[in-house]
Amino acid sequence: MGTAKFEIDGKSVELPVLRGTDGPAVIDIRKLYAEADVVTYDPGFTSTASCESKITFIDGDAGILLHRGYAIDELAEQSSFLEVCYLLLHGELPTAAEFEQFEKTITYHTMVHEQFDRFFQGFRRDAHPMAIMTGAVGAMSAFYHDSTNVNDPQQRMISAHRLIAKMPTIAARAFKYFRGQPFVYPRNELSYAENFLRMCFSVPAEDWVPNPVLTRAMDRIFILHADHEQNASTSTVRLAGSSGANPFACIAAGIASLWGPKHGGANEEALNMLAEIGTVDRIPEFVQGVKDRRYLLMGFGHRVYKNYDPRAKVMQQTCHEVLAEVGAQNDPLLQVAMELEKVALNDPFFVERKLYPNVDFYSGITLRALGFPAEMFTVLFALARTVGWISQWKEMIEDPSQKIGRPRQIYTGAPARSFVPVDKR
Ligand code: CMC
Repeated sequence: MGTAKFEIDGKSVELPVLRGTDGPAVIDIRKLYAEADVVTYDPGFTSTASCESKITFIDGDAGILLHRGYAIDELAEQSSFLEVCYLLLHGELPTAAEFEQFEKTITYHTMVHEQFDRFFQGFRRDAHPMAIMTGAVGAMSAFYHDSTNVNDPQQRMISAHRLIAKMPTIAARAFKYFRGQPFVYPRNELSYAENFLRMCFSVPAEDWVPNPVLTRAMDRIFILHADHEQNASTSTVRLAGSSGANPFACIAAGIASLWGPKHGGANEEALNMLAEIGTVDRIPEFVQGVKDRRYLLMGFGHRVYKNYDPRAKVMQQTCHEVLAEVGAQNDPLLQVAMELEKVALNDPFFVERKLYPNVDFYSGITLRALGFPAEMFTVLFALARTVGWISQWKEMIEDPSQKIGRPRQIYTGAPARSFVPVDKR
């Protein structure tokens, strides 16, 4: 640990410099305001670490993403989503016995309160499934009071299990409601991903046949979205939770933040963009529009990655596997995506700004091939990210240095002035 020194208004200030396991040095400014009567300004938190965390590490320049030290591509290849959930939540990979117990616990919590099902009927049929998710997950705090005491470690763990277990059931209900089809109850003998696909795609009129390639792809997509350090929605969950709000309310806040097109909503926007381009010959005209700053190339660019997003590589491979399995290798949108990626990666506008494909560039095409409409894409992201959110929330509650989040501001409004009665204005 070293120190950083600077001068302000003739006064010398010395601040501790902290070092994590990896990543840049961090100037600890906690005492800055008290000692030097100044604050820092950093909209978008581009140079600010908001917390200490042991969960996820990203090296954006090298294109590295590690969960608890394990590389995302190894986890996507060799692990399962539930095992990754255990890893994120507990810090270590489970033994066989620990995993069996964890799987049982999650399975035990998959059903939702029967009255909860009636809650969905209050939404308009054409409601966006993300609108339903925001409301329904927030409503969990009205159904599961016995796990909302944030100061009780056991209740914290039960709420984490409930969220991981019930999100697929709630997400599938949002989808079924949107489709106008009857709800399908969870089946506990199925794997996490298979159970979810069945709850989404089975109908009473015919038997649903599982497809192992598609189930594996769904599971891998969940792994790719499980956590991603202090992004907008995770920071939202932490900030909401810093006041002591219950975990279900905090996750609902995270879902709201995820919904935006610059964050989780980008996969839906990326697919709409590819559909709008339509054919490969229209790519130059579209790219020109991006360079003229008329719109963004959705699924490209990242606040942290200034290199290829490692999740995008796995997603691209998964995309090819799924499309081959459903016989859609010649999907024109895949052709547009591949050519668009090639053009952008060789264009100085994107090269100079270090804009590479992110996880959302290929996820829309893949999810569409799995049978999901674009409106469901961000819901699937929310389902998978729930474990990251709740692990980060739990870590924050258990961190003794945690305080309520309360940023400062530069006030540029009117100076103090006297009130003028309306007849004198
Ligand atoms: N298309 C065109 N130009 C872009 C793009 C893009 N997708 N992304 C960034 N730029 C430009 C931007 O205009 C700026 O140019 P200049 O320096 O000339 O003004 C430069 O690149 C730096 O961009 P920035 O806006 O400072 O970068 P940021 O870190 O604030 O934004 C981002 C990151 C992800 C919000 C942005 O890249 C973006 O809007 N991308 C499209 C949406 C998207 O795909 N989001 C998914 C992110 S991955 C999944 C997730 O985490 O949710």
